[in-house]
Amino acid sequence: MRVCRVGLIGAGGVAQRHARVLADFDDVRIVGVTDVVPEAATRLAESTRARFFPDVDALLAADLDAVYVCVPPFAHGAAEEAVLAAGPALFVEKPLALDRETALRINRLVDERGAVTAVGHHWRYLTVVDEARRILADRPVRLVAGTWLDRVPPVAWWPRRDRSGGPVVEQAAHVLDLARHLVGEVTEVWAAGNGTPPEVAGADVDGATAAALRFATGAVGTLGTTCALGWKHRAGLEVYADGLALSVGEDGLLVRDGDGERRIAGDPEQGRRDVDRAFVDAVRGIGADVRVPYSEALRTHLLALAVAESAATGALVRVPPLEPANV
Ligand SMILES: NC(=O)c1ccc[n+]([C@@H]2O[C@H](COP(=O)([O-])OP(=O)(O)OC[C@H]3O[C@@H](n4cnc5c(N)ncnc54)[C@H](O)[C@@H]3O)[C@@H](O)[C@H]2O)c1
Repeated sequence: MRVCRVGLIGAGGVAQRHARVLADFDDVRIVGVTDVVPEAATRLAESTRARFFPDVDALLAADLDAVYVCVPPFAHGAAEEAVLAAGPALFVEKPLALDRETALRINRLVDERGAVTAVGHHWRYLTVVDEARRILADRPVRLVAGTWLDRVPPVAWWPRRDRSGGPVVEQAAHVLDLARHLVGEVTEVWAAGNGTPPEVAGADVDGATAAALRFATGAVGTLGTTCALGWKHRAGLEVYADGLALSVGEDGLLVRDGDGERRIAGDPEQGRRDVDRAFVDAVRGIGADVRVPYSEALRTHLLALAVAESAATGALVRVPPLEPANV
């Protein structure tokens, strides 16, 4: 098979990361880049020996096998629709959108087209996450405590609710996805936002959010986020079962049981590389290890939106199972 011809929509921080990873794969060629800021696309195109394209339609005319949609949360929808109509496989960065409707609409199109898709939940590829899942396989989880304790990321759209969706949707989605992966589906949530935005211009997101989660298995959990720090403090999940405590995130895995404590160091780059490798392999038809296709990310997105809705309204929000009737 010919090399996998890839296009990039969005040329910001995460697109640059994917471009670095993809450039190391012998069987991938980054063909073109487009961005609403032409200078950003030109810069990334030059550094990857790709071509600049002025818009999505022009990019999609370049005979592509796969397209990465690396736009901010508020900008999802039209790009995915165009890619799915044109035919290439689709990689989308999380979060899928700001709202339910856009993500549900794209999910229906993915289904109709039978498209190969993947979403940037690269934590699912971490070997420490595989190990945590193996350890928890026959241990009913009782309690979960997720955290994302960080600074405000240095992109202008982030502190605005109508641009990013807020910290739970934009960042803690990684933690919620991990909770679903290790513990199962969440059926109801209640959350509170502190109502105090971080001290950056134009911010209207909560500086801190606390949520309570009930899982279908009977496990209960919490999620705590803050963006009030000047550094990334911690992001991950603590999981407690009978006689077992486990803490896992990009940094590594800590396990404690009756036999003592052991630590396994994490390698964030490994997850970031493997998520792209698995997608390319699926596109080329030489692998089947896409762990988070669009429909799976949709479940995480609906959960994150439920937490954000509860924080905004103060109401307990049930997370409906994703039956065809809901899609
Ligand atoms: N999976 C991960 O670990 C990870 C890491 C970082 C960012 N992300 C996600 O990736 C997304 C982008 O983040 P980022 O840090 O790259 O942001 P960024 O602001 O650095 O880059 C976004 C780029 O998209 C461009 N853009 C905006 N609207 C567009 C449109 N309609 N068409 C084409 N280009 C458009 C912007 O001009 C900008 O260059 C966010 O949703 C973020 O959550 C994921």
